[in-house]
Amino acid sequence: MAAAEKTADKNMGGARAPFYAPVSDECDIFEAAERHGLPLLLKGPTGCGKTRFVSHMAVRLGRPLYTVACHDDLSAADLVGRYLLKGGETVWVDGPLTRAVREGAICYLDEVVEARKDVTVVLHPLTDDRRILPLDKTGEEIEAAPGFMLVASYNPGYQNILKTLKPSTRQRFLSIDFDFPTHDREIEIVTRESGLDVSRTTSLVRLANKLRGLKGQDLEEGVSTRLVIYCATLIEDGMSVDRAIRAAMIEPLSDDEDVKRGLMDLVTAIYG
Ligand SMILES: Nc1ncnc2c1ncn2[C@@H]1O[C@H](COP(=O)(O)OP(=O)(O)O)[C@@H](O)[C@H]1O
Ligand SMILES: [Mg+2]
Repeated sequence: MAAAEKTADKNMGGARAPFYAPVSDECDIFEAAERHGLPLLLKGPTGCGKTRFVSHMAVRLGRPLYTVACHDDLSAADLVGRYLLKGGETVWVDGPLTRAVREGAICYLDEVVEARKDVTVVLHPLTDDRRILPLDKTGEEIEAAPGFMLVASYNPGYQNILKTLKPSTRQRFLSIDFDFPTHDREIEIVTRESGLDVSRTTSLVRLANKLRGLKGQDLEEGVSTRLVIYCATLIEDGMSVDRAIRAAMIEPLSDDEDVKRGLMDLVTAIYG
């Protein structure tokens, strides 16, 4: 608990770090990685706090941050940059990765396995001791400025062989395994983010953990902390508990009527 109090809402020269409640020693590992310029990989299910953690740490350490949400159309050129036509002239425009490398900023590639395969090629020379970014199109080879740090996240839970990181890539990163926060910590987070009282938040977190227990049987993914916060926000706004749970914690998990009925039975078991 003490660690959470120490880091939550730390005021960095005027900029307030977004609230983040540490689950383990992830802040220490991030700080050490940042100090030594080592690349860091955050593994864990969706909505468990990975992105929030990076925003928090960047402000806490007073570091500029470039975040790239990766998707299946994202190519190396989107990260590195490209020639664009401007007023009849072609000019080179740096992408977010190149800007971070030049400025010595943190570059965060959110859900990196979603990106196209050519992305890993540009990451490799940046993640060994050369710390360089070759720009094939311009012939430039940029040495990463001091302070540059590469952070990537991915969700190993998807049972999709195409959506996984090759060992040759993952062995270049320090890694932190994220999971949903512990019961008490999640209550603290949901209360804080939604404004709902502790007693009603506690019931929602209990329900979330029951739903997570079904993962693998009928559900691909357990309910995320993000969804619990959505649910609490709706209830705090005046929606009935039943409707809020349906909209935020049942419908997002499955499209199968039988599965949803089964999930609602758990709700009845907890709420009576
Ligand atoms: N440890 C935590 N401290 C503070 N907020 C958290 C924490 N974990 C999850 N959250 C909340 O859950 C939401 C979703 O987390 P996010 O970082 O977007 O998940 P991810 O990037 O892992 O998919 C955040 O916006 C935040 O409100
Ligand atoms: Mg994220």
